[in-house]
Amino acid sequence: MIPRNFPPSFQLSLRNKHGGQKPPELCEMLVRTFTKENEHVLDPLAGVGGTLLGCSLSGRKGTGIEMNQEWIDIYHQVCDLESVPTQEMRHGDAREVLDDLAKSKTRFDYILTDVPYWKMDRVEKSRGTFKKVGEDAKGVFSDKSKLSPFNNTATAPLESLGKDAWKRSMKEIFERCFKVLEPGRYCCVFIGNMYHGGKYHLLNADIAGILADVGFTLKGEIVWYDVSNNLHLYGINYSWIPSIVHQFIMVFRKERKKKLTKEERNGIEKANINRIKTSGMRHEIIDS
Ligand SMILES: C[S@@+](CC[C@H](N)C(=O)[O-])C[C@H]1O[C@@H](n2cnc3c(N)ncnc32)[C@H](O)[C@@H]1O
Repeated sequence: MIPRNFPPSFQLSLRNKHGGQKPPELCEMLVRTFTKENEHVLDPLAGVGGTLLGCSLSGRKGTGIEMNQEWIDIYHQVCDLESVPTQEMRHGDAREVLDDLAKSKTRFDYILTDVPYWKMDRVEKSRGTFKKVGEDAKGVFSDKSKLSPFNNTATAPLESLGKDAWKRSMKEIFERCFKVLEPGRYCCVFIGNMYHGGKYHLLNADIAGILADVGFTLKGEIVWYDVSNNLHLYGINYSWIPSIVHQFIMVFRKERKKKLTKEERNGIEKANINRIKTSGMRHEIIDS
């Protein structure tokens, strides 16, 4: 559990234009936990670069993929203004770029990504108006999504954007991620659950199922409770509706086909102990 907020930093007002950005310091914590210095981290859905900033803060090499040039430009602007080293940011559809990376035999030591939550950017905003269950919405829908959707249903009406299309796109991206991740290494995915159409949707369970289908093993979940989020009262008088103030970081691993030999394990342990002695980093993982 990470029960904390991250104060505004790294030109938050600029990064806020995106709407789905993650705190670079939280990404840094995760990158440090799952990698060693100079290792190579991938974010196939990079947005305005939370993961890539985390890589720069921790001395890792990062590669991001983002289909929207506007977010790439903001990432570069933030690096410029903050004098942070820029990581590689590729423009394009993650599926195509990942195919190219696989062909060129590029491999990564860790994947940290943040998927657009199904309908999250298009969901009804109540803005203080209320409706009874079964009544038409009195609120407004955000029809000008700031986040790029996964497929060409971008301009389709809200209700025609099925969850199946979202799941298919996720699968297409994560099966490619699986190919470019080194065996034995981890993939962490930010995801929040949501309440929509009178039902609660366990999107974290959907993501767990999709990643299991493409070969990953689910290892656990980290709950990030942003304590600066206000709790809201919804559904007063009529029903109980959750006020969602937490997100998940789902932790997956691409298992090794063969177990490490005793010699390999000893080598890793020795190297880790040396690193801890010389850098004081006590929270990086001991590979096993
Ligand atoms: C939730 S946001 C990531 C935000 C990021 N963690 C940050 O800190 O800015 C997901 C991003 O994925 C991008 N995206 C969606 N589908 C994509 C695709 N097929 N290929 C590349 N990028 C895509 C969206 O444009 C969006 O910026």
